[in-house]
Amino acid sequence: RVGSSSPSKFDILYNLSDDENVDMDWDNLKFGLTPTDYMYTMKCTNEEKFQKGQLSRYGNIELSPSAGVLNYGQGLFEGTKAYRKEDGRLLLFRPDQNAIRMKIGADRMCMPSPSVDQFIDAVKQTVLANKRWVPPAGKGSLYVRPLLIGSGPILGLAPALEYTFLVYASPVGNYYKEGLAPLRLYVEDEFNRASPGGTGGVKTISNYAPVLKALNRAKNRGFSDVLYLDSVNKRYIEEASSCNVFIVKGNLISTPATNGTILDGVTRRSIIEIARDNGYEVEERGISVEELIDADEVFCTGTAVVVAPVGSVAYQDKRVNFRTGSEAVSQKMYKTLVGIQTGVVKDNKDWIFFC
Ligand code: COI
Repeated sequence: RVGSSSPSKFDILYNLSDDENVDMDWDNLKFGLTPTDYMYTMKCTNEEKFQKGQLSRYGNIELSPSAGVLNYGQGLFEGTKAYRKEDGRLLLFRPDQNAIRMKIGADRMCMPSPSVDQFIDAVKQTVLANKRWVPPAGKGSLYVRPLLIGSGPILGLAPALEYTFLVYASPVGNYYKEGLAPLRLYVEDEFNRASPGGTGGVKTISNYAPVLKALNRAKNRGFSDVLYLDSVNKRYIEEASSCNVFIVKGNLISTPATNGTILDGVTRRSIIEIARDNGYEVEERGISVEELIDADEVFCTGTAVVVAPVGSVAYQDKRVNFRTGSEAVSQKMYKTLVGIQTGVVKDNKDWIFFC
């Protein structure tokens, strides 16, 4: 409700005023769960479409022990962020792309999905209902987590008979404990993240628990994250546990092509466009680990991660350092992307949605 002095229906319903922010330490936000006030829920059976959802107080949900998601991992998640602009408006970054990606994932996982409009409406309602948790401008963002799960009970292996679409939110700061400092990546050559014909290209919940073993091991050895190799040749880089990866060599920026094993990141796609607009050549293709090692610069992208510079990569017995700092391409990409996301840089691409 831009420039309006009358309260919106959410203000009335939830008794919130525009300038009200919860009292928390906004300068030290981390990427962790802070429970907020409301969540959004919408249900449907496998024979009908999603129709109408509703907001309710944030809290635990009731699920049958035999829910499809608990027993067979039939579930997807998304991640998008809301930012508070200096003028108080709340901005969302390309939530339509998350909605489309959820539809594609739902098809792969045999689930019905909300329409793009339903998805965006649910995200907006969740943000507005929790607006006192959207950090002040420049202090972080409200991370919004849409979930689509097979909530109906099912014992034999088959798609569940009931589905729940749920959206909750939490204020967050930087994803890595390093903050904005360069990451140390470990190239994993034992565990795989995805395989051809599998689900690596969609945001199913079942892609994430299998990487925990490698991630924990790497973190215990002092690394920030793991970079996975393709499961067939163990030669081409794929992505990190929670983000996509780019390499820079001269004026050429390259990222692994989305061939079914790599997540089609919204930030990944946005950076490709921003880089081309800024005169870089960008290629989506296979990138060997030798090419990674030979790069001038490496960086990671993701909704949670944003754009994170990689300071070093360890592969077998080698350790290589890369360019970071104010001259790095990743720094320029970060500034432009975050500028658009926070309303500081003009959005010429209709990427911003107002709540
Ligand atoms: C995101 O970037 O939004 C993700 O979904 C990654 C997640 C592991 C935090």
